[in-house]
Amino acid sequence: MNLHLIYFSPGGTTKKTVMNIAKGFPSSNVQKIDMLRKSNREKIFEFGKEDVIILGMMTATKLFGVPNEVIGALKGNDTPFVGIVTCGNGYYGSSLKVMTKAMEKRGFKMVAAGGFIGQYSFSDKIASGRPDEADEIVQKKFGEDIYHKLIVNNDRTFKHKLKIDWPNEGAFSAFKCALISALPGLGFGLPKSWNELEISNDCIQCGKCVKICPVEALTLDGTIQQDRDLCFGCQACNRGCPKGAIKPVSSKLIKSINNVTPYRTTRKEPIVFI
Ligand SMILES: Cc1cc2nc3c(=O)[nH]c(=O)nc-3n(C[C@H](O)[C@H](O)[C@H](O)COP(=O)(O)O)c2cc1C
Repeated sequence: MNLHLIYFSPGGTTKKTVMNIAKGFPSSNVQKIDMLRKSNREKIFEFGKEDVIILGMMTATKLFGVPNEVIGALKGNDTPFVGIVTCGNGYYGSSLKVMTKAMEKRGFKMVAAGGFIGQYSFSDKIASGRPDEADEIVQKKFGEDIYHKLIVNNDRTFKHKLKIDWPNEGAFSAFKCALISALPGLGFGLPKSWNELEISNDCIQCGKCVKICPVEALTLDGTIQQDRDLCFGCQACNRGCPKGAIKPVSSKLIKSINNVTPYRTTRKEPIVFI
């Protein structure tokens, strides 16, 4: 068996989640594919029946960012896959449903799925430090269960009907979730009018943000410049800056974060389907 860990993880919590699940597999041949890298999204990775894929993506009600490029780079041949989505202690909406349908069209067969919690991309006050030790235990056990089902018992069935994970954040959020879920397309990004970044004087021009940006929206030319037409607001730059010098400043975005904060302070637990 060859295990392939594939993730689109601007802030690193989705990657950590996928890695923790893989710890439940006995040491096997492991390949990691980081889909933040545009060069990986431009390739075609083809897999067979003996491969096992764990695909992790972050959510914004639907899959976030460029899921068409991520999933479009994968081709299966009746290949078993585990679908993982992460959200910031809110809700993952229709992400798992969307991921499953798109992956099945690409030749993959879902064998297990999970919705996990990662620190909220915009704030260290929501889901701070997650996935944490308690999450890691659940994630490793989930990996062990997948291995047992798939490899030990050779069971490739999946009997669950995945549903929308609705917000518990008032009528407006429920309406937004229904609307976004009904829109065509695999993914949803931050509206352009919300994506403005401020680079403070703490910036040391190390260029880490330029390297990590999945869509080449930042350049270093004496100072850091943001191309707001390319940026979709994933916060990889913000979360990856060693000096904390990059912050979103849109007043609409800040208002929206403040609105959801009271609903997202109570710890939510992961959900797994196997
Ligand atoms: C633009 C944007 C929208 C988001 N929308 C949601 C959401 O609807 N519900 C939620 O719980 N978390 C939401 N999040 C939070 C992320 O899904 C969550 O923090 C995730 O763990 C980030 O994964 P990463 O660390 O791999 O980037 C959003 C994050 C971003 C950047």
